[in-house]
Amino acid sequence: AAAKVVVDRLIERQKAEQGTWPETIACVLWGTDNIKTYGESLAQILWFIGVRPVPDSLGRVNKLELISLEELGRPRIDVVVNCSGVFRDLFINQMGLIDQGVKMAAEAEEPLELNFVRKHSQEQAAAQGISLREAATRVFSNASGSYSSNVNLAVENSTWEEEGELQEMYLSRKTFAFNADNPGEMNQNREVFESAMKTADVTFQNLDSAEISLTDVSHYFDSDPTKLIAGLRDDGKAPTSYIADTTTANAQVRSLSETIRLDSRTKLLNPKWYEGMLNSGYEGVREVAKRLNFTLGWSATSGAVDNFVYEEANDTFINDEEMRKRLMELNPHSFRRIVGTLLEVNGRGYWETSEENIAQLQQIYQEIEDRIEGVTQG
Ligand code: BEZ
Ligand code: MG
Repeated sequence: AAAKVVVDRLIERQKAEQGTWPETIACVLWGTDNIKTYGESLAQILWFIGVRPVPDSLGRVNKLELISLEELGRPRIDVVVNCSGVFRDLFINQMGLIDQGVKMAAEAEEPLELNFVRKHSQEQAAAQGISLREAATRVFSNASGSYSSNVNLAVENSTWEEEGELQEMYLSRKTFAFNADNPGEMNQNREVFESAMKTADVTFQNLDSAEISLTDVSHYFDSDPTKLIAGLRDDGKAPTSYIADTTTANAQVRSLSETIRLDSRTKLLNPKWYEGMLNSGYEGVREVAKRLNFTLGWSATSGAVDNFVYEEANDTFINDEEMRKRLMELNPHSFRRIVGTLLEVNGRGYWETSEENIAQLQQIYQEIEDRIEGVTQG
């Protein structure tokens, strides 16, 4: 029931704001969130496509049935399911169920304007010269033994030039398809992945923990497909990205930018958070630097970070002389990283600010370099 509420809220918000039903939702599935919510993420996906699990006499689910369009009261929404490597390791049977459900929906002889799974699968089958069943492939993950897109590593080490390089990492690593007709193998199927992803108008992920949110770990932006989809779509439009917060009884559906804004206000820009960090000393400055870098990661993958986040970070950690002194004393290496990241977000076009701010950052960067060199010499 909770799954239905989240999905209905998301679809209705999208319909109210865009005027039409979304055709395809690109979902990100993590193992931990599926465990903590007792399979709610799986239930959400089945509800998007209009399929219901049928428990056997022992309560185990290994069969599905189509929910009628009448009961559904809206079109079947197509999905592209981006499973983490952890999800793949833990829930291969659930990947199989989703694949079965997608194929059932694609094979249902219904009007195309009420069944986007069938509509897209037919288009893909015709364009790619494959069967409808082969085209109805929507469940993807990394190859066996592989876990992330590596976008997080590239961002953490600043080893990328163009956003397209990050998108290429995702496409080369996270396009291995589950196929219920051949469940022993997951083969790369980038063509079907891309042709399904390019129809996505929405992205969606559940947030399952009040403690760990979008800028706490690098894995969230690592799996975010927002700009990747914009790059694939014919119109180049970014999808609307939503995050469901299922950490409270009354689940909220927020846009990705709302969620990042909330997260930044709660942590990076919140005196309670950063003072707590800085009181713990050396490590605390590292935590600030890391969080700022993860925020850059979100700019790179989604563009959903507001300018004010960087502007206020600069006000808080750079413009305040007392603060600068503290950061320099506590941990000059991480302070240099904070300054470097602010220069990087500006250089990459993610933060517009005054020339004075940039000149100041450059000067401080130089001062920290001199200081660090001085320390190692002395
Ligand atoms: C997962 O639960 O699927 C997951 C955990 C940590 C990082 C990435 C994914
Ligand atoms: Mg960097």
